[in-house]
Amino acid sequence: MDGANAVEAAGVPTSALNRIDLSSSDIPQSVSLLKQACLDSGFFYVINHGIGQDLMEEVFAQSRRFFGLPLSEKMKLLRNEKHRGYTPLFDEVLDTANQIQGDYKEGYYIGTEVPEDDPDVQKPHFGPNLWPSEEILPRWRQTMEIFHSQALNVAKVVARIIALALDLEADFFDKPEILGKPIPILRLLHYEGLISDPSKGIYGAGAHSDFGFLTLLATDDVPGLQICKNKDAKPQAWEYVQPLKGAFIVNLGDMLERWSNCIFRSTLHRVIGNGQERYSIAFFLEPNHECLVECLPTCMSEEHPPKFPPILCQTHLAQRYGDTHADLDVYRKEEV
Ligand code: OGA
Ligand code: NI
Repeated sequence: MDGANAVEAAGVPTSALNRIDLSSSDIPQSVSLLKQACLDSGFFYVINHGIGQDLMEEVFAQSRRFFGLPLSEKMKLLRNEKHRGYTPLFDEVLDTANQIQGDYKEGYYIGTEVPEDDPDVQKPHFGPNLWPSEEILPRWRQTMEIFHSQALNVAKVVARIIALALDLEADFFDKPEILGKPIPILRLLHYEGLISDPSKGIYGAGAHSDFGFLTLLATDDVPGLQICKNKDAKPQAWEYVQPLKGAFIVNLGDMLERWSNCIFRSTLHRVIGNGQERYSIAFFLEPNHECLVECLPTCMSEEHPPKFPPILCQTHLAQRYGDTHADLDVYRKEEV
C-alpha cells in the first residue's frame, strides 16, 4: 500500500456488525440481533454455522489452485449461457455509473447440478456445471459439491430466523413455491493485487447491492469489503466489514428488500483493493424461478403501502445478470 492509500484506508471506519450464533438455543435473542442488523445495515456475521474449518480451508485452497492455472486452461471453462463456469477479469461491471473498466476480479460460478435429461434444464441458471478435470485438479468437484450443499443448509437456517424477524412463521420461506427448488449459486472470487482508486473509477468490485434473497460470504483475512448504509448521502460514507475467521458475513439482497417493503435493507457494498491479492467465496440464495416476490403481509399497512410491484424471481435475476455481465459474444469475437 502506498502512503496515500494507507491514509485513506485508515480513515475508513469499521462497521460493528452483530453476530448471530447458529448454535445458540436462545432463539429470541438470535431473532432480535438479526432483526436489528437487518433494519440497520442488512449485514451481520453468522458464527458456529456448522461448516467445518477444514472444509472452508479446503474450498479456499482449491479456489487458489483453480485461479492459479494458466488463463488458457481457465478459458476452456468460460462461463456459459447458464452462468456456470469461469468469469475472467473485467467480465462483470457492477457500477456502470462510476467504473471506467469492469471489476478487477475473476470468478467461477457453480450451481445445482441439473442434468441435460431433467425437464428443469430448460430454465435459466439450471443446467450441468462445468468442472475442471480430475487429473488437473483432483477432488475439486467433490469439495465444491459438498460445500454447495452445506452452504445451502446454512442459508436456509438463516432464512428461518429472518422469517421470525419479519413476524412470519419460521418455515415461511421453506414453502415449495419459495425455496422448494431454489437457485443457489456458489461463486469463487479472486481479486488481483491491485490498488483500487475510486477517484479514477477502478474497483475490485464496483458498488452494488446483491440481487436475490441473501448472500453468505467467506473471505480470507485481507480486508477489502466496504458497505454504505446511506447511498443517497453526499458524499457517501463507507465502512469496512472486517473478515471474521470461521464466520460467514451475511447480507440481504434486493428480493428480500422488496418482500419486506424496504424494512430490511439490501445495502450497497463494494470491494476496494489494497494491493494484496484477495480470495472470497460467495454463496447466493435465490428462490424458485417462478416465485413471485411481493410485499409480505406483515410489511405493509395503510400508511405503508407496497413500494414495489410484484416481480418474478427469474425476471429480476435475468435483468440484473444482463445489466452486469459482459455479453458472451465478446469472447466469441476474441476467438476468431
Ligand atoms: C459479491 C460481493 C464481496 C467480496 O460477489 O456480490 O459483494 O468480498 N463480494 O468478494
Ligand atoms: Ni455483493
